[in-house]
Amino acid sequence: MIGRNTDDRWGAVSQSLHWLIVVLIVVMAWLGLTMTDLPNTPYKIRIYALHKSIGLTILALAALRLLWRWHAGAPHALPGPRWQHRVATFTHAGLYLLLFAVPISGWVTNSAAGFPLPWFGLVHLPPLVGQDEALHELGEDWHEWLFWALAALSLAHAGAAFWHHLFQRDATLARMLPSRWLHVPASKEPPHA
Ligand code: HEM
Ligand code: HEM
Repeated sequence: MIGRNTDDRWGAVSQSLHWLIVVLIVVMAWLGLTMTDLPNTPYKIRIYALHKSIGLTILALAALRLLWRWHAGAPHALPGPRWQHRVATFTHAGLYLLLFAVPISGWVTNSAAGFPLPWFGLVHLPPLVGQDEALHELGEDWHEWLFWALAALSLAHAGAAFWHHLFQRDATLARMLPSRWLHVPASKEPPHA
């Protein structure tokens, strides 16, 4: 099937979902970190609504991505020490977990505050919990800390991808990008890239 993962590289579907989610998270970090200090105007309400709608989109994309991963599998691990594979597996599992935990904590916070949740003004999503001021405050803290955990793990993960490309000189990063975007030394190139 077009876009499927092969033994050597991530297919177009996995690549597109990976990079789309990365771009949306960067947009969300910027929106989230700037919106809370805005003066109370209708503009602030619109920015909050946009933040929530994009956040729910990320939640749906993360679910789609996990389903696709389960359906299409993953390329073979590249040669490397066992500890590196373990760290990568642990990091990827943590990233998946946070891709769900960050938006869900936002959803819980919004529900506990008693605010409505229209996705881009189109579909009204139900509250996950009842109105509760203590839970609202706890949710805000958790949402923020989970976001910082996601930011830290993503940075470490991106650093590892560049380290593989620049110093290990293997195809880790190249196979998450369209073929021929990145040059990999011939001996280490995946056979069917
Ligand atoms: C991956 C998705 C998301 C990311 C990366 C993200 C990120 C952030 C960040 C960085 C902040 C600022 C935290 C602070 O400094 O206090 C924030 C605040 C907030 N987010 Fe999200 N968010 C996401 C999804 C959501 C969703 C789905 C909702 C609701 C349905 C939501 C609701 C909120 C609310 C209500 C606040 C304001 C909390 C306050 O006033 O202190 N977020 N978010
Ligand atoms: C918000 C930021 C990011 C998140 C949440 C994220 C998440 C993930 C996840 C969950 C995987 C595992 C895929 C799987 O096994 O199903 C993955 C793989 C990968 N990511 Fe990211 N990623 C982010 C940013 C980046 C950046 C900035 C880079 C590169 C500069 C990058 C490069 C890669 C590469 C090369 C792989 C494939 C690793 C392999 O084949 O073993 N990621 N990413």
